[in-house]
This record gives sequence, structure tokens and C-alpha cells, in this order.
Amino acid sequence: MRVTATVNGLIRQADDVWEGESLLYMLRERLGLPGSKNACEQGECGSCTVYLDGAPVCACLVAAGQAEGRSVVTVEGLGSADDLHPVQQAFLRAGAVQCGFCTPGLIVAAHDLLSRIPMPTDLQIREALAGNLCRCTGYVKILDAVRLAAGEMNGDRE
Ligand code: FES
Ligand code: FES
Repeated sequence: MRVTATVNGLIRQADDVWEGESLLYMLRERLGLPGSKNACEQGECGSCTVYLDGAPVCACLVAAGQAEGRSVVTVEGLGSADDLHPVQQAFLRAGAVQCGFCTPGLIVAAHDLLSRIPMPTDLQIREALAGNLCRCTGYVKILDAVRLAAGEMNGDRE
């Protein structure tokens, strides 16, 4: 089947999508957007987190067909290599990226948190990121990154 959706602001079509295909597969393999990662394919790790109609979802658990006519935003849609989003910049500056497999999902989850709660407490950050697993960093630098991004986005520039 053909799936047509608005992806990162552009109308995109994916052909030959099979019924059981995930949105994650469609994004990565058919639309050339490899930012969202496939670490578990079971909804356990959050590395595939994208926005679907403005709500963060695990793209590995969403059927590609469910995206028909809807809006999808991936980590690639939050900023570009030349113009990183403050959340993306903060992850780099805080050293919150090691292997990077968890990073796209964490960035989308942090972006969503800061859009709802501009200056979250540590508890709110931990709760918001509870579904995103990282095997490498120990989370300390990830929390630092979210605090840094919150400060940057609220005019607390260093
Ligand atoms: S790959 Fe989707 S939650 Fe792990
Ligand atoms: S940086 Fe490797 S899993 Fe998080």
C-alpha cells in the first residue's frame, strides 16, 4: 500500500508498505530518515521516539499505515546540521552522547518535555525520560543536557 504523510513539514509518500510494517521502518528504510533508531523494536527503549500529530510515540509500535494523512516529526525535523535545535546543541555541549543510539529518542522526549514545562524540576525530567533507556552515559550528563537546554531556551545564556 501507499502511505502519504507530512513528515518534517513535507508531504511524503512511501510505496509498497506492507500491512505489518512499522512507522519506524518506513521512516528509516523508505523515506531516508535514519535518525530514529531501532534498538529493541518492542516499545521498551524509546530510541525510536518521534512525534505523531504532536504527541511523542514509539515509532516501532505504530503501524506505518496509521500515519496516513497525519503529521510526523523526527529528530531530523527539529533542527539541521547547520542549525541545531537548542536541545540538540545541549546534548553535544553536555557530553550526553556516547554511542548515540539513544540520543534521537531522548532529544525528542526532552523537546516534548520542554515544550510543556519550560523549566522542569529534576524529578520532572526523570519522569519525562523514564521511557528512554541509555546503556552508556549513566544519565547524569543527559540530565545536565536537559537543564542546559532549558536554560538556553529561557534566555539564561552563558
Ligand atoms: S526501538 Fe522502539 S522502543 Fe525500542
Ligand atoms: S549514548 Fe549509548 S545508549 Fe545512550
